[in-house]
Amino acid sequence: MKTIAKISIASLALSIAGCQDTEDKAIPSLKSAFEGKFTVGATLSNGMLETMNDPGFAIVEKHFNSISPENCMKWGIMNPEPDTFELEHADRFVDYGSENGFEIVGHVLYWHSQTPDWVFEDQDGNLISREALLAKMRERARMMSERWGDRIKVWDVVNESIEGDGSWRNSKFHQILGDEFNELAFRIAMEELPADAKLIYNDYHMTRPGRQATVIAMVKDFQAKGIRIDGIGIQGHWTMEDPSLEELDEMLGAFSQTGVPLHITELDIDYLGRSQYFGANVDLERLKSDPANNPYPDGVLPEAEEQRFAKRYADIFKILLKHHEHIDRVTFWGVSDLTNWLNDFPVEGRTNFSLLFDRQFETKPAFFSVLEVAKQN
Ligand code: XIL
Repeated sequence: MKTIAKISIASLALSIAGCQDTEDKAIPSLKSAFEGKFTVGATLSNGMLETMNDPGFAIVEKHFNSISPENCMKWGIMNPEPDTFELEHADRFVDYGSENGFEIVGHVLYWHSQTPDWVFEDQDGNLISREALLAKMRERARMMSERWGDRIKVWDVVNESIEGDGSWRNSKFHQILGDEFNELAFRIAMEELPADAKLIYNDYHMTRPGRQATVIAMVKDFQAKGIRIDGIGIQGHWTMEDPSLEELDEMLGAFSQTGVPLHITELDIDYLGRSQYFGANVDLERLKSDPANNPYPDGVLPEAEEQRFAKRYADIFKILLKHHEHIDRVTFWGVSDLTNWLNDFPVEGRTNFSLLFDRQFETKPAFFSVLEVAKQN
């Protein structure tokens, strides 16, 4: 009796495992669904690169053909002090990508955020000279090129240097280099990175008319001056309402007219939303402790909300597919809801919902709604 019971439990376990395996195989991959349209990417977090055995890797290998580093290549992470280099995570990222045949994206050469003060200031805290900053920028690009140049084929050269109203962001890069910051950065990238690396300008809220106009003018200016710019990076940190589908459609149409390929570089949809937190003097600690700001701490959305989220993704992908001839790549900012940065931004410690895979690494209704759109378009 005992033996029979054991056998039947074992065979039941086997058949469940077999069934899950078959089910998994029956689910088409995102990369095959969008084949011939654009590559599909995800980011590898520092947590994944720390252990190299995160369950997220199975998703990455099945569904994506491009990878971006969430944090490990940022200036402050790689090079926190003038002579301190911490390159293990970035090395693992590039090795993993090349051993597994991914398109590897470099993120990011020059960004005002996550860049330490030593880059811009001398020991007394005064801004350094233009020549000194340019030398540091060139040294960084050269180091990237020497270490990984043969393997990283897409680079976010400058990130977020233009404000929503179209003016230059008042960053330390701008304080030292002035309005020429972007141009100088792209010239350095063009000179130091391999000739076949795609050089991208990357920014968020690209539907804002001022920012859009300045980006387009900059691309045209670079083209006229013979400065390479091979892509416009549209981050795609969107919410349930922003941008509207009309705005998205118009933006993609406007950028397409430059003739430069578009990359959706950091797609996620912030279900909980954040616009209310961007006002002046917000007390994030108070918001954090108010349960109204974290309505689903168990990580499960009510079915109707899950469907609304799935529809938002489907609507967005319909528009992306409409413009697919101009879009090279769509990269999701993360792999699953478990570790996506929006759990901690702009309010720390919320349970947010943003991607196509849930906290158990299972496909969400949004995953299937995106696949369905791919099938029909
Ligand atoms: C975010 C990471 O996801 C977080 O882990 C980190 O704490 C802050 O930066 N725009 C970008 C990305 O270009 O580099 C940012 O990534 C998200 C916004």
